[in-house]
Amino acid sequence: MDAVKTGLNQPPTQHPRLLDWVKEVAELTTPDRVVWCDGSDEEWDRLTSELVAFGTLTKLNEEKRPDSFLARTDPTDVARVEERTFICSHDKADAGPTNNWMDPEQMRGIMTDLYRGCMKGRTMYIIPFCMGPIEAENPMFGVEITDSAYVVASMHIMTRMGSKVLEAMGDDAQFVPALHSVGAPLEPGQTDVPWPSNETKYITHFPEDREIWSFGSGYGGNSLLGKKCYSLRIGSAMGRDNGWLAEHMLILRLTSPEGKVYHITGAFPSACGKTNLAMLEPTIPGWKVETLGDDIAWLRYGEDGRLWAMNPEYGLFGVAPGTDYKTNPNAMRTLEKGHSLYTNVALTDDGDIWWEGMGEAPDHLIDWHGNDWTPNSKGPSSHPNSRFCTPIKQCPVLAEQYDDPRGVPIDAILFGGRRASTIPLVTQARDWVHGVYMGATLSSETTAAATGKVGVVRRDPMAMLPFIGYNAGDYFNHWISVGKAADDAQKLPSVFYVNWFRRGEDGRFLWPGFGENARVLKWVVERLEGRGEAVESPIGFVPTPGAIDISGLDTDPEDLAASVRVDVEEWKEEIPLVEEWFAKFGDKLPAMLWAELDALKQRLGMN
Ligand code: GTP
Ligand code: SPV
Ligand code: MN
Repeated sequence: MDAVKTGLNQPPTQHPRLLDWVKEVAELTTPDRVVWCDGSDEEWDRLTSELVAFGTLTKLNEEKRPDSFLARTDPTDVARVEERTFICSHDKADAGPTNNWMDPEQMRGIMTDLYRGCMKGRTMYIIPFCMGPIEAENPMFGVEITDSAYVVASMHIMTRMGSKVLEAMGDDAQFVPALHSVGAPLEPGQTDVPWPSNETKYITHFPEDREIWSFGSGYGGNSLLGKKCYSLRIGSAMGRDNGWLAEHMLILRLTSPEGKVYHITGAFPSACGKTNLAMLEPTIPGWKVETLGDDIAWLRYGEDGRLWAMNPEYGLFGVAPGTDYKTNPNAMRTLEKGHSLYTNVALTDDGDIWWEGMGEAPDHLIDWHGNDWTPNSKGPSSHPNSRFCTPIKQCPVLAEQYDDPRGVPIDAILFGGRRASTIPLVTQARDWVHGVYMGATLSSETTAAATGKVGVVRRDPMAMLPFIGYNAGDYFNHWISVGKAADDAQKLPSVFYVNWFRRGEDGRFLWPGFGENARVLKWVVERLEGRGEAVESPIGFVPTPGAIDISGLDTDPEDLAASVRVDVEEWKEEIPLVEEWFAKFGDKLPAMLWAELDALKQRLGMN
């Protein structure tokens, strides 16, 4: 109890609203201790040592993986829980047809009951954090209260946090309160488990109050509340009200052999290639990619009338399986520098990590369940949604502009999904509204990043289906109005739709992907410069057979031709699915998008 008194009676801030909230939460959740996180290296060392002593973390081989740790979660707590994620606006219509909704008062009642005494036997940590640089004109502060030391350690990597943030907040800064509990109180004498969680889970957002309440899960997307909850769900609602966009996008800086610089963002659904594209090592000579962000972008107009994008995060929370020196060498180099957390990957006999896709499997591993594993074992050694969490500053190709609060001016926006058929390797939109249509009708096969069935095609508008914090119909309108707000339509980014995942009849990928995606980026900039060869198809501009540079690529030219093919019959099959999708939004769906659909039907010869 002394520690509670210290945390509450000698707080390192005088911010009245923050102090009131901390006191209120402590009284409700009744932790044994209250700790204000300072973000120091000592704090990281203390927390990781405690988590090792406790069995939550395993320390990895110091030579191979300096200052790095492995966490194994409860096998039921491995991904985002979309069916337990709620947007609690006052009016149900403001959550729209794509979100779960509950009346905010009802939700607060249910969750207050769950939170009552939920931190008993545990430490309550207070994490002041900032999404984006603290030096920004309007720094985007948040404070997460959590009873998970794993969350605190992860927030050390993923956000700018600690004393420097608290100091910058002063006594009156606005902040987003974000409450998190694993929901596993400890009775006196009760032994804890390495990964406490609760069968009952709620990931709740109050967009009008700019507030987040999360209960029952320790997994990243459910518990690191600065990420999806703040930067996308609450962020998108802030953006709607203030004329900007919060998007599920990577940001990269591309330099051509002539030294011309372009900035490109890409919105692909979870586990569909953002981290890989953001850190791409081009296979074509003279081209350079530098990383600015791999998951989230905030897009605002700059004084020059162009759209600028900045990454509010400070770390990478990347999909582990498939990451290798061949596919994503820059991620591997980032991880070599250490100071990283791994979740649900396999452990090698010499204390290193391994996952599916990282070269040949060793003869023996400890799998993500903590059991012996050999190449003859049944399941994979690592969970398909296992993750690495590592400081973005360690990325060897991080762009210098990374810390600039303004971000970078965007030349092109890529939308992309995981589709085995129909969608060509790359298509350019005719204009902004056609680009919004492409984003609004984006479809992708579901992945292991969220619980539920994998491989099911669903609409995932702008790769934001699980992250739009309000009515998706209003969101489409907002995208259109952002385009209208441009003082000169020529200054708007050009929109493209990409698909690295189209397959041949035998199931093989038609396009080699990864570093070879630089060839598609090259065509994109050639289009921006008005040079790239394209044919105008019913769905937009697609590359002519020779337009994509395939020099030095030993891919079957027929595969390449198949990857860019527009199959009118396949597209006709998409139309009823899009009609059904648009119908969900009733009169919230912008008329301009219905008009785009009509025009597409006409071009396909359907009406
Ligand atoms: P989230 O962090 O969940 O938002 O995912 P993400 O969009 O950053 O996806 P990521 O780059 O981590 O890639 C997800 C999976 O797709 C990994 O297993 C990659 O190896 C694989 N992948 C990425 N790019 C390509 C590509 O160009 N071609 C193929 N075939 N696979 C790819
Ligand atoms: C995603 O699922 O899109 C992720 C991982 O980037 S999580 O942070 O869990 O949302
Ligand atoms: Mn993501």
